[in-house]
Amino acid sequence: MEFETLLLEVSGNVATVTINRPEKLNALNAQVLDDLDACFTALGKNDEVRAVVLTGAGEKAFVAGADITQFKQLDADTAASFARRGQDVFNRIEQLGKPVIAAINGFALGGGCEIAIACHIRIASSNARLGQPEVGLGLMCGYGGTQRLPRIVGLGNALELLTTGAHVTAERAHQMGLVNQVVEPGEALTAATKMAVGIARQAPMGVRLSLEAALATDARLTEGLALEASLFGKTFETEDLVEGVSAFLERRKPDFKGR
Ligand code: COA
Repeated sequence: MEFETLLLEVSGNVATVTINRPEKLNALNAQVLDDLDACFTALGKNDEVRAVVLTGAGEKAFVAGADITQFKQLDADTAASFARRGQDVFNRIEQLGKPVIAAINGFALGGGCEIAIACHIRIASSNARLGQPEVGLGLMCGYGGTQRLPRIVGLGNALELLTTGAHVTAERAHQMGLVNQVVEPGEALTAATKMAVGIARQAPMGVRLSLEAALATDARLTEGLALEASLFGKTFETEDLVEGVSAFLERRKPDFKGR
């Protein structure tokens, strides 16, 4: 299968999906979401594939977030739909029925951190940086970060990431439980592939049912995601959103007014 913004390689029982917009640090635009949707739908139906590795092209970034250039055209309603679309695609990844390992080879920010936590396991290179910088742009997470982060790193760490907008090192992310393993720069894909090969040797039904049972502890996730999408939409009614996005695009510091 061929995609405009993804590379897909299947070797043995392991598929590797690479988000391929390195010139934009693999930022997620509508086309990337469409391609991820189609790709993971196909992987779900392919019985040969028993584990998946997701990574980003280039040496600098896993995914540097949702594509910020899209934000200028959104209002509260379209922004809430925008959040729901990303949530649906990320849910497809989480509900694949086969383990998905994020090989975090660089920046995993905003939607990049959110797609990583929709994956089941995360392996980061030591030079990777993770975070939820949305508050610095006048918005908040809309692709599941407010719901999945507390489940993975605990409420205290999640609130720190969500409110400071700070980029944390791979080592700090490991201490928080945000990443499972930290490896040398350039080694994330190799380490993730090695783990995927090991998983692919296990009984597929046992693996699938383990995922299903473990993820069932998140019975209230759907409710939380709906709330997040609607609150994400609200930030698009604020002057701070316009200021934050303009400041990023104009490469200057934002001047937020709180309205
Ligand atoms: N959306 C759209 N474009 C993005 C992007 C995003 N989330 N992140 C990076 N890019 C683009 C830049 O605009 C730039 O494009 P250009 O060369 O056409 O100007 C290119 O990718 C390279 O990024 P640049 O900012 O020049 O790299 P850097 O090394 O100076 O900084 C980051 C790297 C990751 C710190 C910086 O790109 C960044 O802060 N990105 C946004 C992260 C973010 O806030 N994500 C959450 C979005 S909700």
